[in-house]
Amino acid sequence: APSDPDLVERARAAKAKLGEKVFVLGHHYQRDEVIEFADVTGDSFKLARDAAARPDAEYIVFCGVHFMAESADILTGDDQQVILPDLAAGCSMADMATAEQVAECWDRLAEAGVAEVTVPVSYMNSSADIKAFTGRHGGTICTSSNAKRALDWAFEQGEKVLFLPDQHLGRNTAVRDMGMSLDDCVVYNPHKPNGGLTDEELRGARMILWRGHCSVHGRFSLESVNDVRERIPGVNVLVHPECRHEVVAAADHVGSTEYIIKTLEAAPAGSKWAIGTELNLVRRLANRFADQGKEVVFLDKTVCFCSTMNRIDLPHLVWALESLAAGKVVNRIQVDKETEHFAKLALERMLALP
Ligand code: 13P
Ligand code: SF4
Repeated sequence: APSDPDLVERARAAKAKLGEKVFVLGHHYQRDEVIEFADVTGDSFKLARDAAARPDAEYIVFCGVHFMAESADILTGDDQQVILPDLAAGCSMADMATAEQVAECWDRLAEAGVAEVTVPVSYMNSSADIKAFTGRHGGTICTSSNAKRALDWAFEQGEKVLFLPDQHLGRNTAVRDMGMSLDDCVVYNPHKPNGGLTDEELRGARMILWRGHCSVHGRFSLESVNDVRERIPGVNVLVHPECRHEVVAAADHVGSTEYIIKTLEAAPAGSKWAIGTELNLVRRLANRFADQGKEVVFLDKTVCFCSTMNRIDLPHLVWALESLAAGKVVNRIQVDKETEHFAKLALERMLALP
């Protein structure tokens, strides 16, 4: 549906009033009505860098989810304030690893005698607490656009990796990009005694994968890939690495949201693409490339929005911008100093990856 013209006008006016004081970041999964007001758009890696590259903006309005706003707060100056237009915009995957569970897991690795040779690598999609744990234990953060480089680095530091919290990104990177086998990976289940793993299994593994996943990307199946290949002969299947291993293994191309966009930009006219990622992005790409004769379809038959990304809508954005323009800071995301210190260590290791 087209955006309410009154709200569009109010968002414009509030942004104009704030001028250089405000910088609006929009993740690629955001609604069109929100993307329209983003000063930059990007994948999680690009947005983290862009937030850090704006030291003059007093307010960073983050149109994305909670862990992204936390990361922006960690990477920006103390005098800068990061705003998340709806505090309920979380990420179910990030919620699958709590600080207590991860501390317990580390004790379990110590008990099996492997903690000393294990390096934690945490996906950006994790709370600031998990990032701090990662920093404290000599590990790095990664995103879907640098996961291989992060793992290469980690295996120079130790013999094993504890990959948090997305088992799929961990497994897909290990097997698809690093030449490991599925047998090199074990899954640590925080809800089972001992993580559901014997000492022997922990000692034999190279990748210890946390049992987390993205419910949006988990919807794509091997069947959806086979169906679309049958429906659209010659189609290229392009999926996000948060998809399950069998989906990634059957796809033609795999990468982050930014990679997906770049790939379509470079694709020849007349080519056909089935995309396995969040629907706001796929719809936007389908519209954008239709004029250029590139056919872009959604990989699955059922709708697949990220419900928490979608919580940021134009009314919330208008409310945040108008509040700031009136001198009132709302929904500030602020990570405590100690957490920030160690989380920043881990994030800076990521930013320094070759
Ligand atoms: P990227 O934009 O880094 O590919 O991440 C996708 C995602 O799920 C963010 O939550
Ligand atoms: Fe989290 Fe998945 Fe939504 Fe990304 S798409 S924010 S991983 S729930």
